[in-house]
Amino acid sequence: MSKKILVLCMAALMAVMAMVAGCGNDKKAADGEKVLKVGTNADFAPFEFQGADPTAYEGFDMDLIRAIGQEMGYKVEINNLAFDGLIPSLEAGNIDVIISGMTINEERKQKVLFSDSYYKSGLSIMLPKDNDSIKSFADLKGKKIAVQIGTTSATEAKKIEGAQVKELNSSADTFIELAAKGVDAVINDRPVNDRYIVESKNDKVKVLPDLLTAEDYGIAINKKDTELQSKINAALKKLKDNGEYDKIYAKWFGGKK
Ligand code: ARG
Repeated sequence: MSKKILVLCMAALMAVMAMVAGCGNDKKAADGEKVLKVGTNADFAPFEFQGADPTAYEGFDMDLIRAIGQEMGYKVEINNLAFDGLIPSLEAGNIDVIISGMTINEERKQKVLFSDSYYKSGLSIMLPKDNDSIKSFADLKGKKIAVQIGTTSATEAKKIEGAQVKELNSSADTFIELAAKGVDAVINDRPVNDRYIVESKNDKVKVLPDLLTAEDYGIAINKKDTELQSKINAALKKLKDNGEYDKIYAKWFGGKK
């Protein structure tokens, strides 16, 4: 008799524990709102960076993902990670999505799902103003080049014949390396190079006009999460249709797309 009661009590306890665990898995915030865990590498202005208040992440990607979260009824939580750690974190389930100026490409598609493209970008070269010998990508043969580790710039730089490629942790580090004359040039996403020229007040560097590649940025989602991919694409489309996307675009890049 008492053994039976004990078994029943155990069963009841296990049911309660399962319910508690279930709540955790559903990513509900204390107030019942669903949370979207976003991974980014916040050293990539104007897409993601830490401004005056380092906890309030700023930039085009940050505004866009907050608008997408709002559209989907999710509270957005930003996690600032190393760029080359973003896809592993997504695969491990530590974050739900990545928005980090991340280029959609075949290699990454093996590991993650991508949303529709939300920005058209490309790679450009930054170099000292007084360097007249490097006029295009072809002139980078045998040169020392700084890139951010894990990026499309790193992949492209390694294809250049005889180039010595320095892979650094952030794009800010590549600019520092160039200023310190540790390299001849930096390869980086064009809007980020352009922004540095304007914001840094470093008048000793220039950006070449040619683009090495045409790249599309996408939001990366866990391979298993096709439902989240559809929700994000629907929210993105809505923001493009209702003019909200254009407003965010104009705030960071000026003018209409
Ligand atoms: N678009 C490039 C890539 O996907 C660079 C992105 C770097 N993003 C960043 N937040 N640091 O590889």
